[in-house]
Amino acid sequence: MQIAFVAGATGYTGREVVRLLAARGVRTVAHVRPDSARADEWRRRFESEGAAVDTTPWVDAEITRTLSGLQPTHVFSLLGTTRARRRESASHSSSKSRESSESSESYEAIDYGLTAMLIRAAVASGSQPRFVYLSALGVREHVTNPYLLARWRAESMLRASGLPFTIARPSFITGPDRDESRPLERVGATIVDAAAGVARLFGAQRLAGSVRSMTGSELAVGLVRLAFDAAAENATVGADELRAA
Ligand SMILES: NC(=O)c1ccc[n+]([C@@H]2O[C@H](COP(=O)([O-])OP(=O)(O)OC[C@H]3O[C@@H](n4cnc5c(N)ncnc54)[C@H](OP(=O)(O)O)[C@@H]3O)[C@@H](O)[C@H]2O)c1
Repeated sequence: MQIAFVAGATGYTGREVVRLLAARGVRTVAHVRPDSARADEWRRRFESEGAAVDTTPWVDAEITRTLSGLQPTHVFSLLGTTRARRRESASHSSSKSRESSESSESYEAIDYGLTAMLIRAAVASGSQPRFVYLSALGVREHVTNPYLLARWRAESMLRASGLPFTIARPSFITGPDRDESRPLERVGATIVDAAAGVARLFGAQRLAGSVRSMTGSELAVGLVRLAFDAAAENATVGADELRAA
């Protein structure tokens, strides 16, 4: 039996991954953070799709206990913070606690820290699940940008973990169906999509395919397909492979 644990299930990509996994007959557990203001709404949605909901707190021992009990065959890490979330979290804090609030919502704390916790828990579970990590285009060694660096560290830890893995590095993930407006993301996607069109005209098909944006649904189809593809085990894939899937 295939059993999937999805962290970041409430995100633009994660919610589609949950729906597709459940529709495929995979026993799917969607993780929702326990303090989520929309916990009831997510529970109704995921349960109606045939998935179960788990609200384990982001604490090493607790996540380890959950995965050890579940014995997943697949773990998806589809989470990460954004600059807007960090600003919002800081704006709700007093000036004294603003600094600690910013660091607790940093790329290091969320994009690296929570994925690292999930990798440790997946290893400790003993079920050797395929770990599917949603990284990003541009991640490589020696980057200094904090977002890319956090993701490089998570990728490196996963490669050294001994778990079978699939790492996905899409370009922009965007579409009219995203809840938040994220204007910068839409503008960025429009620019790279136009550049991809020009690259294709000049025969640079591979470059064009790797930079072109995807919707959450397109990406989810690729992630789920590759998660069960033996050829994608221990592979790092870009947008073109995700789309081809
Ligand atoms: N957007 C892009 O263009 C792009 C491109 C390449 C890669 N990526 C990466 O791909 C991943 C998924 O993208 P997406 O657009 O689907 O993400 P998204 O819609 O922003 O969803 C992010 C997920 O992370 C969770 N999360 C955020 N902060 C958290 C925290 N402090 N504690 C616990 N959970 C937290 C969210 O939970 P809540 O719903 O509870 O907040 C949500 O489930 C992200 O990590 C992103 O960096 C994004």
